Amino acid sequence: MQSVSWKCPSNIALIKYWGKKGNQIPANPSISFTLNNCHTITNIRYEPKENDGTLLVSFAYDGKPMPSFEPKLETFFNNVEALFPFLPGYTLEINTTNTFPHSSGIASSASGMAALALCLCSIEKNIGGNLSEAEFFKKASNAARLGSGSACRSIYGNMALWGQTDFYPESDDEYAIKIENIDSVFKTYCDTILLVDEGEKEVSSSAGHALLNGHPFAHIRFEEANKNMGLLKTALETGDLKAFTKITEQEALMLHALMMTSNPAFILLKPNTLAIIQKVWEYRKNTALNVAFTLDAGANVHLLYPAEEKIKAHHFIEFELAKFCKNKSFIHDGVGMGPEQLV
Ligand code: DP6
Repeated sequence: MQSVSWKCPSNIALIKYWGKKGNQIPANPSISFTLNNCHTITNIRYEPKENDGTLLVSFAYDGKPMPSFEPKLETFFNNVEALFPFLPGYTLEINTTNTFPHSSGIASSASGMAALALCLCSIEKNIGGNLSEAEFFKKASNAARLGSGSACRSIYGNMALWGQTDFYPESDDEYAIKIENIDSVFKTYCDTILLVDEGEKEVSSSAGHALLNGHPFAHIRFEEANKNMGLLKTALETGDLKAFTKITEQEALMLHALMMTSNPAFILLKPNTLAIIQKVWEYRKNTALNVAFTLDAGANVHLLYPAEEKIKAHHFIEFELAKFCKNKSFIHDGVGMGPEQLV
């Protein structure tokens, strides 16, 4: 059997994707930092079989079967069938592993689906596909989106944008693009993930996105996201950390405000999430440093700060924030260069 392998990082959104339509089309454009340490490594062994129109795929996580992931995988393969017409002519053995613990509450679908999509593009290349490098990554991003929307942003290093917006003429609803024009401060930005709650997600992202259908504030949300896109673009280009912090935190709180005002309503923030937010605001007031937070659809806090404030931020985390984390646990990560082909 031949094999391909990709290492692909997770990402954290600054402008949030929350709400979608049709076949994984985002309700508004989103922007994220691509991470480095939190990543998935996926290996696919493949060999030709008789093309009888059926898919023959086996899946293992750390070498062991993982039935809970199979429905998502099946949906993914159904969705990408048309993009990779060679698939029914091959047997695939997928083996995948994450650097972050499954129970950490960090979404593995972004890095996992992106790694899978890259592997499929590499198989296609090995068996005769001849896409240019740019087309290769565009296709991988498109395929990753069909597995999980946010996954399409993990294909590019530093910062990525997904969803059509007039602020970036080359942007698209079907794939992400790399944001090239950013101040160098953002290329080394740090993200420490404070693990407030390690439990399973209370609301799946698909169910979460659906809550925006008929949501009383949906229109305002989409307008705000578009407005924030323009403001963030300026902050990224000029290196304006104060503006960056303001927009990022506003987006995180708006995401949770939308959940709290959905029908049914969800409160995913925990008392310790709020305690951390209070501490961050206090710290910023007292020090004028640029430590900021963002949130996913969960209780964990992503603490964002420029690399030059790392020593002080680590001290702050260790002495003032770790006590709010489960077992005092957190993961130091930061902006990374994007996926890497291993085999
Ligand atoms: C809050 O990409 O996980 O993290 O497309 O249904 O798989 P699906 O959703 P998913 O949603 C991510 C939502 C978010 C914000 C973001 O990453 O932009």
